[in-house]
Amino acid sequence: MRKSARMIATASAVAVLLGTMTFIPTQSALADDVADGKKIAENRKKGNCFGCHAYEGATMPGNIGPPLVAMKARYPDKQKLYDQIWDASKANPNSIMPPFGKHDALSDKEIKALTEWVYTL
Ligand code: HEC
Repeated sequence: MRKSARMIATASAVAVLLGTMTFIPTQSALADDVADGKKIAENRKKGNCFGCHAYEGATMPGNIGPPLVAMKARYPDKQKLYDQIWDASKANPNSIMPPFGKHDALSDKEIKALTEWVYTL
């Protein structure tokens, strides 16, 4: 009797473990993208986004571009945000924001990570 109780406990522990294992990868993949995006944004040789944009936590940001706030609310369509970073001149032909994707300054993967990070601002 005690043995079967232990077996049930073990089986349910395994089930819980398996359950979290299938759940965690997608969550942490997103967290990885957000962390990578922030690193790219704050790397002067990559995004250097704070050179022009203020956002929460930015140290001595520039103010050439608008502050990045409430991005999720203002860009319900994430693709628009991606497009803005890929080629800002699409939305504003006179934009001085570098067209990071169009000029191959950043890869598709890097812009996707940046988009995920900007979405958290
Ligand atoms: C040289 C300055 C400059 C740099 C560097 C820059 N931006 Fe911009 N950004 C701008 C300006 C100016 C605008 C305002 C819209 C326009 O003129 O295109 C803008 C607009 C934006 C917008 C739209 C904001 C809104 O309120 O709708 C987003 C999002 C954005 N930038 C993200 C980024 C990210 C992410 C980076 C780094 C990869 C970056 N920018 C780097 C100048 C810059």
